[in-house]
Amino acid sequence: MESIKVPKDVMYILDTLNQNGYEAYVVGGCVRDCLLGKRPNDWDIATSAMPQQVKALFPRTYDTGIKHGTVTVIINAKSFEITTYRLDGKYQDHRRPSEIQFTQNIVKDLKRRDFTMNAIAYHPYKGLADPFDGRKDIKAKLIKCVGLAGERFREDALRMLRAVRFSSQLNFAIEQNTLQAICENGKLITKVSQERIREELNKVLLSEYPEKLLRMHETKILAYILPEFERCLHTPQNHPYHAYDVGNHSIAAVRNIEKELVLRWTMLLHDIGKPVCRTTDEQGIDHFYGHGQQSTILAKKVLTRLRFDKKTTENILGLIKWHDRPIHPTPRAVKKAVRVIGEGIFYDLLKVKEADIKAQNPALKEKRLEDIKVIRDIFDDIQRSGQCISIKDLAVNGKDLLAIGVRQGKEVGMVLEKLLDIVIESPEKNNRETLTALAKAFYERLYMGR
Ligand code: CTP
Repeated sequence: MESIKVPKDVMYILDTLNQNGYEAYVVGGCVRDCLLGKRPNDWDIATSAMPQQVKALFPRTYDTGIKHGTVTVIINAKSFEITTYRLDGKYQDHRRPSEIQFTQNIVKDLKRRDFTMNAIAYHPYKGLADPFDGRKDIKAKLIKCVGLAGERFREDALRMLRAVRFSSQLNFAIEQNTLQAICENGKLITKVSQERIREELNKVLLSEYPEKLLRMHETKILAYILPEFERCLHTPQNHPYHAYDVGNHSIAAVRNIEKELVLRWTMLLHDIGKPVCRTTDEQGIDHFYGHGQQSTILAKKVLTRLRFDKKTTENILGLIKWHDRPIHPTPRAVKKAVRVIGEGIFYDLLKVKEADIKAQNPALKEKRLEDIKVIRDIFDDIQRSGQCISIKDLAVNGKDLLAIGVRQGKEVGMVLEKLLDIVIESPEKNNRETLTALAKAFYERLYMGR
């Protein structure tokens, strides 16, 4: 008998139910992950016991989705969901069943689930229940709906995104009928909430194979959930720097950056404004003037629609805004760039630039990557040696300026900005005496001499 190593607390729950005249299995994602040799995120339990019977057996429980048969049990400060075997009745809004029916039969419960690989249950004494050959599909690396795929997707349209998401996490193919059913039912994705769509997109982007996002394009659901990105896949870039259309370049750039949410979304959306900025010159070369700004505007629209939190949105937009700003690999130019862009995001911006260049024409990337390396070394050096790159690093502050007669208000800021310009050009001038003299001279020339 194929066995699965069930954690102690879960085993306790299974034993308690099984020894009290009910039947209990672990089910769904945890069984799939164990069969794949992965560590499950959580352990879901399915049982023939009714919710009230479950509650009677465990001292600490709370009602999570009692209407749908789910009770949460707390064991050793950890929570586990126990759901009574059920059949789903009619679905409302292509998202969730409006009515459910409990059953005593695990196979009937497995039959309502999305994919064969998720419709396997494990009983510590009876072994695996796998009525839809989920193990065979796992071996074949195949995502296949239980029963008729169209029915499964019409019941719950989110499953179409789950199919793509699992394919990107597991590097599985989507079985032909299942793929076909996504193509036929794509429009139903509009019934799914933006938050749910966001969570699935996040998982795809953070996966090992984010390029599987293209399955959403092939099955035509992308046009419903990210129409701005769909346009990128139809926008060629006839330019010596580029080797792919805007969309495929962006996907390649996602692959080139570490698995971190802000960075991966930045790469996906960094050129999203290009389709509306594209012009072609007499030589047939495409240009995308102003695309940094346009991409920031469109990315904001996308992130707001997907209901991202404010901080994540701002971080992504900050990087998109500056992704295309040229920076020369000299200390002076780097300091000027840091001053405008901000120290906080500078290292991330270099990662973004690097991922962007690596996704462009391979023949031209070496020199540009070398420049990024030099810029990073210069910035390291600035950080290490505490060189002046912002107003707070100046040898004088606002109070000092007031003391020499600068009027309170925006004039103080203007003089400090001027001093920073000077110090970035000539770091040796960053001492009190020199800056005080320079501030006086500048202020008098500007305001007193008028
Ligand atoms: N399920 C389903 N249809 C859905 C969501 C879930 O049939 N739209 C079933 C599947 O059997 C799934 C189980 O409910 O395995 C648990 O769902 P969930 O915890 O959302 O996903 P997992 O499959 O566990 O995967 P992961 O935790 O990796 O997201």
